[in-house]
Amino acid sequence: MPMNLKGRSLDSALNFTTDEINYILELSQELKRSKMQGLHTNNRPLVGKNIVIMFQKDSTRTRCSFEVAAADLGASCTYIGPTGSNFGKKESVEDTAMVLGQIYDGIEFRGFKQSDVDALVKYSGVPVWNGLTDAEHPTQMFADYLTMKEFVGDLKGKKLVFAGDIKNNVARSLMIGAAFFGVNIVLCGPKAQWDIVKNGPDHKAVYEACQKLFERNGGSVEFSDNKLEAAKNADAIYTDVWVSLGEDFSLFEPRIQELGAFQVDMAMIKAAKEDVIFLHCLPAFHDDQTLFSAEIKEKFGAKYPVVATGAMEVTDEVFKSKHNKSIQQAGNRMHTIKAVILATLGY
Ligand code: CP
Ligand code: NVA
Repeated sequence: MPMNLKGRSLDSALNFTTDEINYILELSQELKRSKMQGLHTNNRPLVGKNIVIMFQKDSTRTRCSFEVAAADLGASCTYIGPTGSNFGKKESVEDTAMVLGQIYDGIEFRGFKQSDVDALVKYSGVPVWNGLTDAEHPTQMFADYLTMKEFVGDLKGKKLVFAGDIKNNVARSLMIGAAFFGVNIVLCGPKAQWDIVKNGPDHKAVYEACQKLFERNGGSVEFSDNKLEAAKNADAIYTDVWVSLGEDFSLFEPRIQELGAFQVDMAMIKAAKEDVIFLHCLPAFHDDQTLFSAEIKEKFGAKYPVVATGAMEVTDEVFKSKHNKSIQQAGNRMHTIKAVILATLGY
């Protein structure tokens, strides 16, 4: 059912209702179909609109998705990179927000603090889209569940296991999405992290909001520290990097110790449903072909066999297997981001 979301911001998916979240997913499917059929060229509903995408952290998928989505919709798009503006350095978030709001119809922001997104919303007066903060990654969430829907069907009652850094931004947004779509999500990682998810000062309110949504929409969030147990009957297995953007390289060793037991490997895949899909927000460390993973292999490979090949959160075998749908998932970033832009800027 069409909904009017004009003027709304996607700072957190929790600011939307279940019907609104479902509408954005449906609109994503519609826009994807239209693009696949080449029909999008007949309709540029945002001609004359201008958006800015501002990144304090680097990006491939999110940046490209916003740029292509804007082009497809007829809007112009300005990119500001991590070193390309004085945001937060010489100019306050508040001042930058007010200025950008004068020039642009919508603002994407990727950064560190969720409170910066909230400030942009408050002071810009235009829709703001959270392109990733330390707390959440809501545009990613839409692509994740669109991909799951495409490969495993109706989301209600499906089982999704997130293995690894269960307190991070992607895990949190997946939990929020599970609560909207009625998915049974298992967060599989260290017990200490689960305690943070449930009771941590920046986490508790989100966990409790999700519990209310689970009561309404079905689905659940559970914890496991045993990846093979967790994988039983799973429709999808998801992981993310062990050290996120903005975190220090020195964290790699403690994270290998903490999260090594949750590496997604073929044993985990085989413990799940036969046709389980593997998802990853990307970028992924699945071999030694990146600067960081080569260094990790060199420094820690002998000490920690789990990273001996340079693979960290997922093995190369899983990544190269038929189960891996993370590339299609990355493609879905564009369609879902397009839906978010279109719905909030209005036709
Ligand atoms: N998944 C994701 O946000 O990728 P980028 O960091 O490349 O945007
Ligand atoms: N948790 C990761 C997600 C990257 C898309 C990070 O914040 O770097």
